Parts: sequence; C-alpha cells; structure tokens
Amino acid sequence: MNTPITQKLNELIQQKAISLHVPGHKNMTIGRLDKLKFKMDMTEITGLDDLHHPEEIILESMHSISKHPDYDAYMLVNGTTSGILSVIQAFSSIEGNYLISRNVHKSVFHGIDLTQQQANIMAMTISDTSSQYISPDLNHTHFDNQKLAIMTYPNYYGECFDIREAIEILHEHHIPTLVDEAHGAHFSLPHFPKSALEVGVDYVVQSYHKTLPALTMGSVIYIHKNAPMKEEVIRYLGYFQTSSPSYLVMASIELAHQFFKEYDSTLFFEKKERLIQVLEKTGFEVIKVADPLKMIIRYSGYSGHEIQTWFEAQHVYPELADEYQVLLVLPLWHNQDTYPYDDLLNRIQAIELPAMSKREGTDESFPLPFNEGIYIPRAITSATWIDMDQAINKVLAQHIIPYPPGIPIFLKGERITQNMIKLMRYYLQQGGRVEGINNHKILVKDE
Ligand SMILES: Cc1ncc(COP(=O)(O)O)c(C=O)c1O
Repeated sequence: MNTPITQKLNELIQQKAISLHVPGHKNMTIGRLDKLKFKMDMTEITGLDDLHHPEEIILESMHSISKHPDYDAYMLVNGTTSGILSVIQAFSSIEGNYLISRNVHKSVFHGIDLTQQQANIMAMTISDTSSQYISPDLNHTHFDNQKLAIMTYPNYYGECFDIREAIEILHEHHIPTLVDEAHGAHFSLPHFPKSALEVGVDYVVQSYHKTLPALTMGSVIYIHKNAPMKEEVIRYLGYFQTSSPSYLVMASIELAHQFFKEYDSTLFFEKKERLIQVLEKTGFEVIKVADPLKMIIRYSGYSGHEIQTWFEAQHVYPELADEYQVLLVLPLWHNQDTYPYDDLLNRIQAIELPAMSKREGTDESFPLPFNEGIYIPRAITSATWIDMDQAINKVLAQHIIPYPPGIPIFLKGERITQNMIKLMRYYLQQGGRVEGINNHKILVKDE
C-alpha cells in the first residue's frame, strides 16, 4: 500500500522546510513540545480523568489554563470549530436571529446551517492595508431581535478594531457575544494587542495551535462566569467533540499555556526587526499590522501567489497568498528555541527578484460587499454541477470559499450574478484554492 501522506511529510522534513505558517510550534522548533512523547497517546484509564466529565487531572489543568478571573477555560481537542458550533447550537433554543460579521469562518456558517435559523449579516468596514474585512460597522447595523452576535477578532491578517467599544454597544442592546479569537491565542503578551478576554465578551474561542506552540486542533474556549446559556454550551461541547480526546493534544495545550505565561517578548522583537531589514534589503515591501506576529510582504508588479512561489522555491512556506501579498505568521522566538533563524535569513537573501514593474491587472480591486445582509440556511437536497459560465440566475447550492482564509465570499442560497462569476473566475486565475469550484464547475440548485 502507498503511504502518500507520510511520504510527502517526510519529503518536507528532508527539504528542511522552514515554517512561516501555523501551527505555532513551527515544525517543533518553538516551545516545549519536546516534552511530549508518542507513548502519551493514551485513553481514559484510571487516573487519566475524562474530558467530558473532568474531575481530576483534566479539571486541574483547565483551572491552570485560566487567563482571566471572570472566565472558566475548557480545552477543545477538535479545534476552535467545535467551540463555535457548540455556542451557536446552544443559542438555537432562544427566539431571535444570529448577528454575524461577514468575515466569520466557515464553521460559523456550518453552525447556523445546523440550526436552520436565520443570521443577519452586519455591515462591515474594509481595511485599506489588506483589502480584507476588518470590523463590524455597528453604526449601520440593526439590533432588533438578535440573540447572539458573532465576530472575528483579529482578522486573518492580524488587523484589530476597537473590540471594547463593539462589545459595549452590543451589550447595551442586551445581545450576548461570541468572539472568534482563533488567531489571537497569544494576545495580551507584552507589546501584543489586548485579548477580547479583557473586555467582558461572553464567549471567546482561541486556537492555541495557530499561534502558540500546541499541537494542531488544540484550542480553548473561555466562558464568562455570567454568560447566558453556559450549561447548554458545555453540554454541546460533548456533542461536537470526539469521545476519544487526544491526551497528546490536551498535554500540548497545557504546555503552550505554560509557554504563554512565561513568555518574554524581547527576543521576538529583536529578531523580527532583523528579519524586516533582510526582507527589505532583498527588495520586498514589508507591511506591519496591529498584531506583531503577522507580516504582509509585497513586491510591486507581482501577485502574492507569485511571491509565494519564490519563497517556496527556497523551501520557506508562508501562511497564505492572495492577489496582492503573502502573509507570514512569525515564530514566537525565545531563548533556546531551535528555529532555523539564520537559515531563514540566508534563504531569503538567496531569492533573486525579477525587475519591479507596475502592477498589471492587479490594481483593479474587486469590491467586497460591505452592507448589511441576511443569511437563510436552506436545505438544498437536489443540485447539479454545471459550468460556471452557464450559472447566471441559478441558486448556489454550496458556499464558494477561497482557502485560506476559509471565509465564504458567496453563500449557499445566493442567486448568481454575472459579477459573481467574474469574481470567481478572477480568484481561479490568481492560482489560489477555491472550495466549491471544481474544474470550473459549481454546484447549483435544481429548479
Ligand atoms: C477565523 C477562524 N476561525 C476559526 C477557525 C477554525 O479554527 P480551528 O482550526 O481551530 O478549528 C479558523 C481556522 O482557520 C479561522 O481562521
């Protein structure tokens, strides 16, 4: 039997691939996951407690991963996704609609699909820096009959907004809040942005694995002591997570939290500055964002996908590329890490950049919708794959999701316009991966 996954992973290890992407342990070179042993992959034998009914070591560990006295922490072994699904499901028994940002992760849409209830989409502001959604525009949002507001903070590109003000406004309207802080598990470290945990949000979910050194799928949901539907949410955590929780993942969350508590960011900022100097000397444009862990790289006249190929030719892997830029997720460098920092600098210096040119075609920015909207999950049972170009006026039967970042640009149930097709074609031309499009075909509802 072939073992293509194992083979490919081995290839990357042999190439000494350098990670500028998640997970935060950067190929086990950051943090203390060397304390984990494969032999620790055990099950709920005597003394190992039970994640779904914690009374002993798991309970003790969850107490110690607390970040704020107002919150209880619950480990998630199936990622932030499982926390998001649980909160949405818990609120399904309440009257009203969900109120969501347009840039919520697909797990939010999946949660809403499961409830088959309506979501109102908030008006949004768009970042001048990254051309991505940045924050809900609460001055142009209606608050009647909303039972739970869900927003992403920070966005994938590490951009932040005034989360305190947003939560205050929503709470004034008696709307409970869920903040998807998947990309902010390291927030509130010295000289990093403040976490949403500091502003009284009801539910905050953090992917420890993305930015801290934890194993993939290790996340934490923080539940405010006064959060409505708390018991229901905890009950659903048992529904949306495996009944065989990984002790390796749980132990890695514990170790990542210990790392977070002890972290001194001085070395990080020193190494980051030197990296920026090398990137700029090589010819790249470096753009800083609110989260110092994220960095945007551009090169005039070339798309992010092209820049990505130059990095990857040196076996350096960025987090993502879009039409304008690549996004890097930096390591939380520390004393005694084994991250190949000097090697990274050498490989960047070895990139031979083509001559700069004026951007062709990429100056045209495709306007993202930023007004309020409605999402009505529809059960579409009968659907057919057809060529994109023949799909005008048909109803989409599946979200269209450029990946990463995994945020739907067109939603199931939307009627397809010429402009939407133009944008889909554009995304494909950029060379990115787009879930929901196969060989230029999309799934449409049979009518
Ligand atoms: C904004 C956002 N929320 C949630 C998730 C899901 O997180 P997880 O992979 O921990 O389930 C992601 C993953 O990419 C994300 O980008």
